[in-house]
Amino acid sequence: MEITIHEVAAAERKPRPDGTALGFGQLFTDHMFVMPYDAVKGGWHDPEVRPYTNFSLDPAAMVFHYGQAIFEGLKAYRGGNGAVHLFRPTANLARMNISASRLCMPALPLETALAGLKALVRSDADWVPSAPGATLYIRPTMVATEAALGVRPAKQYLFFIIMSPVGAYYPEGFNPVKIYVTDQYVRAVPGGVGAAKAAGNYAASIRAAEEAKKQGFTQVLWLDACERRYVEEVGTMNIFFVIGDEVITPPLSGSILPGITRDSALRLIRDWGYPVVERPISIDEVLEAGGRDTLKEAFGTGTAAVISPVGALHYQGRDCVINGGKTGALSQRLFDELQAIQYGRARDPYGWVETL
Ligand code: COI
Repeated sequence: MEITIHEVAAAERKPRPDGTALGFGQLFTDHMFVMPYDAVKGGWHDPEVRPYTNFSLDPAAMVFHYGQAIFEGLKAYRGGNGAVHLFRPTANLARMNISASRLCMPALPLETALAGLKALVRSDADWVPSAPGATLYIRPTMVATEAALGVRPAKQYLFFIIMSPVGAYYPEGFNPVKIYVTDQYVRAVPGGVGAAKAAGNYAASIRAAEEAKKQGFTQVLWLDACERRYVEEVGTMNIFFVIGDEVITPPLSGSILPGITRDSALRLIRDWGYPVVERPISIDEVLEAGGRDTLKEAFGTGTAAVISPVGALHYQGRDCVINGGKTGALSQRLFDELQAIQYGRARDPYGWVETL
Protein backbone atom coordinates (compact mmCIF):
# COMPACT_ATOMS: atom_id res chain seq x y z
CA MET A 1 0.00 0.00 0.00
CA GLU A 2 1.26 3.44 -0.83
CA ILE A 3 1.53 5.85 2.10
CA THR A 4 0.39 9.42 1.50
CA ILE A 5 2.42 12.08 3.29
CA HIS A 6 0.88 15.43 4.23
CA GLU A 7 3.42 17.41 6.15
CA VAL A 8 2.83 20.52 8.24
CA ALA A 9 4.46 23.61 6.70
CA ALA A 10 7.75 24.47 8.41
CA ALA A 11 6.43 27.81 9.70
CA GLU A 12 3.42 26.13 11.35
CA ARG A 13 5.29 23.48 13.29
CA LYS A 14 5.16 23.49 17.08
CA PRO A 15 8.08 24.88 19.07
CA ARG A 16 10.50 22.18 20.18
CA PRO A 17 10.56 21.62 23.94
CA ASP A 18 13.58 21.79 26.21
CA GLY A 19 14.93 18.24 26.03
CA THR A 20 16.08 18.25 29.66
CA ALA A 21 12.62 18.70 31.27
CA LEU A 22 10.27 16.59 29.20
CA GLY A 23 8.48 14.43 31.76
CA PHE A 24 6.58 11.58 30.11
CA GLY A 25 3.88 11.76 27.43
CA GLN A 26 2.89 15.39 27.88
CA LEU A 27 3.77 16.79 24.46
CA PHE A 28 3.06 15.44 21.00
CA THR A 29 4.84 15.92 17.70
CA ASP A 30 3.59 17.65 14.55
CA HIS A 31 2.43 14.53 12.74
CA MET A 32 0.60 11.24 13.20
CA PHE A 33 0.17 8.11 11.10
CA VAL A 34 -3.39 6.97 10.43
CA MET A 35 -4.73 3.89 8.63
CA PRO A 36 -8.44 2.96 8.73
CA TYR A 37 -9.88 -0.52 8.38
CA ASP A 38 -13.24 -1.49 6.98
CA ALA A 39 -14.10 -5.20 6.87
CA VAL A 40 -16.81 -4.61 4.26
CA LYS A 41 -14.69 -2.42 1.98
CA GLY A 42 -11.64 -4.64 1.74
CA GLY A 43 -9.73 -4.11 4.98
CA TRP A 44 -6.91 -1.65 5.67
CA HIS A 45 -6.78 1.33 3.37
CA ASP A 46 -5.44 4.85 2.79
CA PRO A 47 -2.40 4.85 5.08
CA GLU A 48 -1.33 8.41 5.69
CA VAL A 49 1.13 10.56 7.60
CA ARG A 50 -0.74 13.75 8.37
CA PRO A 51 -0.76 16.67 10.80
CA TYR A 52 -1.47 15.69 14.43
CA THR A 53 -5.15 16.53 14.89
CA ASN A 54 -8.25 15.46 16.83
CA PHE A 55 -10.36 12.56 15.62
CA SER A 56 -14.06 12.86 15.02
CA LEU A 57 -15.74 9.67 16.26
CA ASP A 58 -19.37 8.71 16.53
CA PRO A 59 -20.48 8.49 20.20
CA ALA A 60 -21.54 4.93 19.37
CA ALA A 61 -17.98 4.00 18.26
CA MET A 62 -17.56 0.55 19.75
CA VAL A 63 -14.27 1.36 21.49
CA PHE A 64 -16.21 3.61 23.89
CA HIS A 65 -18.57 0.83 24.87
CA TYR A 66 -16.78 -2.50 24.63
CA GLY A 67 -13.16 -1.45 24.91
CA GLN A 68 -11.59 -2.95 21.80
CA ALA A 69 -8.40 -0.92 22.20
CA ILE A 70 -4.79 -2.11 22.07
CA PHE A 71 -1.51 -0.26 21.95
CA GLU A 72 2.25 -0.58 21.80
CA GLY A 73 5.17 1.43 23.07
CA LEU A 74 8.60 1.79 21.48
CA LYS A 75 11.20 4.49 21.20
CA ALA A 76 13.39 6.38 18.72
CA TYR A 77 16.83 7.37 19.96
CA ARG A 78 19.21 10.08 18.76
CA GLY A 79 22.66 8.60 18.22
CA GLY A 80 25.85 10.51 18.90
CA ASN A 81 26.34 11.10 15.18
CA GLY A 82 22.83 12.55 14.86
CA ALA A 83 21.30 9.40 13.31
CA VAL A 84 17.87 8.20 14.53
CA HIS A 85 17.62 4.61 15.77
CA LEU A 86 14.48 2.52 16.34
CA PHE A 87 14.64 -0.36 18.82
CA ARG A 88 12.94 -3.61 17.69
CA PRO A 89 10.02 -1.94 15.86
CA THR A 90 9.10 -5.16 14.06
CA ALA A 91 8.83 -7.00 17.38
CA ASN A 92 6.42 -4.37 18.68
CA LEU A 93 4.18 -4.52 15.62
CA ALA A 94 4.23 -8.32 15.64
CA ARG A 95 3.16 -8.24 19.30
CA MET A 96 0.38 -5.84 18.37
CA ASN A 97 -0.98 -8.46 16.00
CA ILE A 98 -0.99 -11.01 18.83
CA SER A 99 -2.95 -8.53 20.98
CA ALA A 100 -5.27 -7.89 18.00
CA SER A 101 -5.95 -11.58 17.57
CA ARG A 102 -6.85 -11.98 21.28
CA LEU A 103 -9.32 -9.07 21.07
CA CYS A 104 -10.80 -10.13 17.69
CA MET A 105 -9.33 -7.09 15.99
CA PRO A 106 -7.85 -7.24 12.48
CA ALA A 107 -4.19 -8.05 11.93
CA LEU A 108 -2.06 -5.17 10.74
CA PRO A 109 -0.32 -5.47 7.39
CA LEU A 110 3.11 -5.46 9.02
CA GLU A 111 5.04 -4.09 6.07
CA THR A 112 2.76 -1.07 5.68
CA ALA A 113 2.57 -0.47 9.44
CA LEU A 114 6.38 -0.51 9.70
CA ALA A 115 6.77 1.71 6.64
CA GLY A 116 4.18 4.10 8.12
CA LEU A 117 5.99 4.17 11.45
CA LYS A 118 9.29 4.95 9.76
CA ALA A 119 7.72 7.59 7.50
CA LEU A 120 6.21 9.24 10.58
CA VAL A 121 9.52 9.25 12.45
CA ARG A 122 11.20 10.73 9.36
CA SER A 123 8.57 13.52 9.16
CA ASP A 124 9.19 14.36 12.82
CA ALA A 125 12.88 13.42 12.93
CA ASP A 126 13.85 16.72 14.50
CA TRP A 127 11.59 15.86 17.47
CA VAL A 128 13.94 13.06 18.51
CA PRO A 129 15.65 14.70 21.49
CA SER A 130 19.40 14.81 21.83
CA ALA A 131 19.49 15.48 25.60
CA PRO A 132 21.02 12.54 27.52
CA GLY A 133 18.38 9.95 28.46
CA ALA A 134 15.63 11.65 26.43
CA THR A 135 13.91 9.75 23.60
CA LEU A 136 10.94 9.96 21.26
CA TYR A 137 8.27 7.59 22.60
CA ILE A 138 6.15 6.05 19.83
CA ARG A 139 2.62 4.87 20.58
CA PRO A 140 0.95 2.66 17.91
CA THR A 141 -2.72 2.23 18.82
CA MET A 142 -5.75 0.43 17.38
CA VAL A 143 -9.37 1.14 18.32
CA ALA A 144 -12.80 -0.02 17.13
CA THR A 145 -14.60 2.83 15.37
CA GLU A 146 -17.75 1.23 14.00
CA ALA A 147 -20.84 3.00 15.35
CA ALA A 148 -23.00 0.20 16.73
CA LEU A 149 -24.28 -1.15 20.03
CA GLY A 150 -24.02 -4.89 20.55
CA VAL A 151 -21.11 -6.96 21.81
CA ARG A 152 -19.27 -8.43 18.82
CA PRO A 153 -16.11 -7.61 16.87
CA ALA A 154 -16.42 -4.22 15.18
CA LYS A 155 -16.22 -4.02 11.40
CA GLN A 156 -14.31 -0.73 11.37
CA TYR A 157 -11.09 0.23 13.14
CA LEU A 158 -8.50 2.92 13.18
CA PHE A 159 -4.80 2.21 13.53
CA PHE A 160 -2.80 5.29 14.39
CA ILE A 161 0.63 6.20 15.69
CA ILE A 162 1.39 9.25 17.78
CA MET A 163 4.73 10.28 19.25
CA SER A 164 5.89 12.15 22.32
CA PRO A 165 9.38 13.35 23.29
CA VAL A 166 10.00 11.92 26.77
CA GLY A 167 12.43 11.83 29.68
CA ALA A 168 12.37 9.20 32.43
CA TYR A 169 9.05 7.42 33.06
CA TYR A 170 9.40 7.43 36.84
CA PRO A 171 10.10 10.61 38.77
CA GLU A 172 12.98 8.66 40.37
CA GLY A 173 14.71 8.36 36.96
CA PHE A 174 17.19 5.45 36.97
CA ASN A 175 17.02 5.11 40.75
CA PRO A 176 15.51 2.38 42.90
CA VAL A 177 11.72 2.44 43.19
CA LYS A 178 9.59 1.28 46.12
CA ILE A 179 6.97 -1.28 45.17
CA TYR A 180 3.73 -2.20 46.92
CA VAL A 181 2.81 -5.89 46.60
CA THR A 182 -0.96 -6.13 46.44
CA ASP A 183 -2.90 -9.21 47.46
CA GLN A 184 -6.17 -7.30 47.29
CA TYR A 185 -6.39 -6.54 43.57
CA VAL A 186 -5.36 -8.64 40.55
CA ARG A 187 -4.36 -7.52 37.09
CA ALA A 188 -5.22 -10.53 34.95
CA VAL A 189 -6.65 -14.01 35.19
CA PRO A 190 -5.72 -17.27 33.43
CA GLY A 191 -7.55 -17.33 30.13
CA GLY A 192 -8.03 -13.56 30.21
CA VAL A 193 -6.30 -10.80 28.26
CA GLY A 194 -3.28 -10.24 30.51
CA ALA A 195 -0.80 -11.18 27.77
CA ALA A 196 -2.33 -8.67 25.36
CA LYS A 197 -1.38 -5.01 25.48
CA ALA A 198 -5.03 -4.13 25.88
CA ALA A 199 -5.98 -0.68 27.16
CA GLY A 200 -8.36 -2.35 29.61
CA ASN A 201 -5.48 -4.04 31.43
CA TYR A 202 -4.16 -0.61 32.30
CA ALA A 203 -7.60 0.66 33.32
CA ALA A 204 -7.84 -2.33 35.66
CA SER A 205 -4.51 -1.41 37.25
CA ILE A 206 -5.17 2.22 38.12
CA ARG A 207 -7.05 1.75 41.39
CA ALA A 208 -4.29 -0.33 42.99
CA ALA A 209 -1.62 2.02 41.64
CA GLU A 210 -3.37 5.06 43.09
CA GLU A 211 -3.74 3.42 46.50
CA ALA A 212 -0.06 2.44 46.43
CA LYS A 213 0.97 5.95 45.42
CA LYS A 214 -0.97 7.45 48.33
CA GLN A 215 1.17 5.32 50.63
CA GLY A 216 4.41 6.50 48.99
CA PHE A 217 5.03 3.63 46.56
CA THR A 218 5.90 4.07 42.88
CA GLN A 219 4.23 0.94 41.51
CA VAL A 220 2.27 -2.18 42.34
CA LEU A 221 3.57 -5.71 42.06
CA TRP A 222 0.81 -8.08 40.97
CA LEU A 223 0.39 -11.62 42.21
CA ASP A 224 -1.40 -14.39 40.33
CA ALA A 225 -5.18 -14.21 40.46
CA CYS A 226 -5.81 -17.78 41.65
CA GLU A 227 -3.56 -18.21 44.66
CA ARG A 228 -2.37 -14.60 45.17
CA ARG A 229 1.01 -16.14 45.67
CA TYR A 230 3.10 -16.14 42.49
CA VAL A 231 4.71 -12.95 41.22
CA GLU A 232 3.36 -11.78 37.85
CA GLU A 233 4.61 -8.32 36.89
CA VAL A 234 4.95 -4.76 38.12
CA GLY A 235 2.63 -1.92 36.96
CA THR A 236 4.25 -1.12 33.62
CA MET A 237 7.14 -3.57 33.70
CA ASN A 238 8.18 -7.22 33.83
CA ILE A 239 10.11 -8.15 36.94
CA PHE A 240 13.41 -9.94 37.59
CA PHE A 241 15.05 -11.12 40.84
CA VAL A 242 18.64 -12.09 41.49
CA ILE A 243 18.66 -14.74 44.21
CA GLY A 244 22.05 -16.19 45.05
CA ASP A 245 23.75 -16.37 41.66
CA GLU A 246 20.58 -17.05 39.72
CA VAL A 247 18.46 -14.58 37.77
CA ILE A 248 14.76 -15.45 37.98
CA THR A 249 11.79 -14.01 36.11
CA PRO A 250 8.20 -15.28 35.97
CA PRO A 251 7.41 -17.30 32.83
CA LEU A 252 5.10 -16.07 30.06
CA SER A 253 2.16 -17.89 31.57
CA GLY A 254 -0.51 -16.16 29.49
CA SER A 255 -1.43 -13.58 32.11
CA ILE A 256 1.67 -11.37 31.91
CA LEU A 257 2.86 -9.14 29.11
CA PRO A 258 5.55 -10.68 26.87
CA GLY A 259 7.80 -7.64 27.24
CA ILE A 260 10.23 -6.81 24.46
CA THR A 261 12.61 -5.25 26.98
CA ARG A 262 12.16 -8.43 29.07
CA ASP A 263 13.17 -10.50 26.06
CA SER A 264 16.15 -8.22 25.34
CA ALA A 265 17.29 -8.33 28.98
CA LEU A 266 17.03 -12.14 29.03
CA ARG A 267 19.15 -12.34 25.91
CA LEU A 268 21.85 -10.07 27.31
CA ILE A 269 21.92 -11.77 30.72
CA ARG A 270 22.18 -15.23 29.12
CA ASP A 271 24.92 -14.06 26.79
CA TRP A 272 26.84 -12.66 29.76
CA GLY A 273 26.84 -16.15 31.24
CA TYR A 274 24.51 -15.71 34.21
CA PRO A 275 22.31 -18.67 35.10
CA VAL A 276 18.82 -17.49 34.15
CA VAL A 277 15.53 -19.23 34.75
CA GLU A 278 11.98 -18.37 33.72
CA ARG A 279 9.88 -20.05 36.38
CA PRO A 280 7.03 -19.34 38.77
CA ILE A 281 8.36 -17.56 41.85
CA SER A 282 6.21 -16.96 44.91
CA ILE A 283 6.27 -13.75 46.92
CA ASP A 284 7.16 -15.89 49.96
CA GLU A 285 10.28 -17.17 48.21
CA VAL A 286 11.30 -13.61 47.34
CA LEU A 287 10.77 -12.36 50.89
CA GLU A 288 12.49 -15.37 52.45
CA ALA A 289 15.50 -14.72 50.21
CA GLY A 290 15.31 -11.08 51.35
CA GLY A 291 15.36 -12.25 54.98
CA ARG A 292 18.38 -14.49 54.34
CA ASP A 293 20.17 -11.79 52.36
CA THR A 294 20.35 -13.99 49.28
CA LEU A 295 18.02 -11.63 47.40
CA LYS A 296 20.78 -9.62 45.80
CA GLU A 297 18.70 -7.37 43.56
CA ALA A 298 15.41 -6.89 41.79
CA PHE A 299 14.61 -4.82 38.74
CA GLY A 300 11.81 -4.15 36.29
CA THR A 301 12.06 -4.01 32.51
CA GLY A 302 9.86 -2.04 30.12
CA THR A 303 10.04 0.27 27.13
CA ALA A 304 8.98 3.34 29.06
CA ALA A 305 10.94 2.51 32.21
CA VAL A 306 13.92 0.78 30.46
CA ILE A 307 15.51 -0.93 33.50
CA SER A 308 14.18 0.15 36.85
CA PRO A 309 15.94 -1.07 39.99
CA VAL A 310 13.62 -2.07 42.84
CA GLY A 311 14.91 -0.80 46.17
CA ALA A 312 12.15 -2.12 48.41
CA LEU A 313 9.05 -4.31 48.42
CA HIS A 314 6.19 -3.80 50.86
CA TYR A 315 3.94 -6.81 51.49
CA GLN A 316 1.33 -7.34 54.18
CA GLY A 317 2.66 -4.55 56.37
CA ARG A 318 6.31 -5.59 56.10
CA ASP A 319 9.16 -3.96 54.21
CA CYS A 320 11.84 -5.87 52.38
CA VAL A 321 14.76 -3.61 51.49
CA ILE A 322 16.78 -4.94 48.56
CA ASN A 323 20.52 -4.37 48.18
CA GLY A 324 20.40 -1.65 50.84
CA GLY A 325 17.89 0.24 48.67
CA LYS A 326 20.60 0.80 46.07
CA THR A 327 20.92 -0.05 42.38
CA GLY A 328 22.42 -3.51 41.92
CA ALA A 329 25.34 -4.38 39.67
CA LEU A 330 23.28 -6.36 37.15
CA SER A 331 20.58 -3.66 36.91
CA GLN A 332 23.28 -1.09 36.25
CA ARG A 333 25.03 -3.24 33.67
CA LEU A 334 21.80 -3.98 31.86
CA PHE A 335 20.74 -0.35 31.86
CA ASP A 336 24.11 0.77 30.54
CA GLU A 337 24.37 -1.91 27.86
CA LEU A 338 20.78 -1.64 26.63
CA GLN A 339 21.00 2.12 26.39
CA ALA A 340 24.36 1.88 24.63
CA ILE A 341 22.81 -0.41 22.01
CA GLN A 342 19.66 1.70 21.72
CA TYR A 343 21.55 4.97 21.24
CA GLY A 344 23.98 3.31 18.83
CA ARG A 345 27.02 3.68 21.11
CA ALA A 346 27.58 -0.08 21.33
CA ARG A 347 27.68 -2.76 18.65
CA ASP A 348 24.30 -4.46 18.18
CA PRO A 349 25.01 -8.14 17.55
CA TYR A 350 21.30 -8.98 17.76
CA GLY A 351 19.94 -6.90 14.87
CA TRP A 352 17.65 -5.03 17.27
CA VAL A 353 18.38 -1.51 16.08
CA GLU A 354 17.08 -0.08 12.82
CA THR A 355 18.74 3.14 11.80
CA LEU A 356 16.64 5.52 9.70
C1 COI B 1 5.66 0.95 27.84
O1 COI B 1 6.59 0.62 28.59
O2 COI B 1 5.87 1.31 26.68
C2 COI B 1 4.30 0.95 28.29
O3 COI B 1 3.44 0.70 27.51
C3 COI B 1 4.05 1.32 29.67
C4 COI B 1 3.17 2.47 29.77
C5 COI B 1 3.68 3.81 29.70
C6 COI B 1 1.75 2.22 29.90
